[in-house]
Amino acid sequence: MSAAAEAATDATHEPGSAGPSLVVERLTTSIRIDRQWFDAVRDVSFEVYPRETLALVGESGCGKSLTALSIMGLLPEGVGRVSSGRITVDGTDMTAASEAKAQAMRGDRIGMIFQEPMTSLNPVLPVGFQIAESLVEHRGMSRRQARRRALELMELVRIPAAAQRLDAYAHQFSGGMRQRVMIAIALACAPKVLIADEPTTALDVTIQAQVLALLADLQRREGLAVLLITHNLGVVAAVADRVIVMYGGDVVESAPVKEFFRRPTHPYSEALLAAMPRVDRSAEALAPIPGQVPTLPDLPPGCRFQSRCPLRIEKCAELPPLIPLAAAPAHGVRCWVRAP
Ligand SMILES: Nc1ncnc2c1ncn2[C@@H]1O[C@H](COP(=O)(O)OP(=O)(O)OP(=O)(O)O)[C@@H](O)[C@H]1O
Ligand SMILES: [Mg+2]
Repeated sequence: MSAAAEAATDATHEPGSAGPSLVVERLTTSIRIDRQWFDAVRDVSFEVYPRETLALVGESGCGKSLTALSIMGLLPEGVGRVSSGRITVDGTDMTAASEAKAQAMRGDRIGMIFQEPMTSLNPVLPVGFQIAESLVEHRGMSRRQARRRALELMELVRIPAAAQRLDAYAHQFSGGMRQRVMIAIALACAPKVLIADEPTTALDVTIQAQVLALLADLQRREGLAVLLITHNLGVVAAVADRVIVMYGGDVVESAPVKEFFRRPTHPYSEALLAAMPRVDRSAEALAPIPGQVPTLPDLPPGCRFQSRCPLRIEKCAELPPLIPLAAAPAHGVRCWVRAP
């Protein structure tokens, strides 16, 4: 099999199967800082198919959460806005939708597990009530029906002694159990698309693995399309089908996951991988990426990684396009040196 054909089969969707559940086309999201607007997400495009997991990776501040909030229609008002592009969820154009329609889509067709479970769960409402809420709102269930379904969902995400804990509050749950409550809320209405923003960062590795296995199982059963946001390339290797690397709001590399780990090509991806702890390397071999992601007003024009890039050339003052590699057309790289 050619490398290209092999790369293509890395993805889980077969040609001719159902279309993508989530389509993001040339999304640009801007953030206002001191009356000036800056593009924090630039020209980002991707698709996620049913049962597929697309991982969005990159250091803190590279635009992962803003991409997720743009899809959800939850950008902070007056501070963030989608400046251009189109987002389609299960056939509905979210960017053209009214606020009422967007709200109907959230929790119904599209669920999100937020980065911070403690701040996104309501501390003064019992968790069972919070899971039931969207069923009453979106599915028109009675309180009693919704409560019964909330119990089923708590069992589905394997919260032990669920019946006794329907009326407990978030602070009475451990971190891992809280994350499961978040998953139950996100899945209550059987959405087509699930966005998981760092769903396991706050958890220890054992619980992390349990939560990820649970998500994978639900995904298989319910046919979910998952957009997984994470810092952790180990998690990406374990659960993702495809990966998109972001830096300074740009997609710098995009590839099927096996192809990505076989042939990481953008200097930023290489740097991320070199900074990742691995069992087959000593801790001394770890190479942290020098410097940090500049703040929005300080991002350089052209390639945004140039200020930290060891391969920088003069041409980097211009923004390189995302170019498919000749050897693997499903693998795109935005770099004048590596994909000229
Ligand atoms: N409400 C806001 N006000 C001002 N700047 C913001 C706001 N939200 C995001 N930003 C800026 O936009 C950029 C992208 O932020 P974003 O939250 O998407 O990063 P991220 O990739 O999710 O990072 P992390 O891994 O830390 O969650 C950063 O420079 C961030 O400081
Ligand atoms: Mg984030």
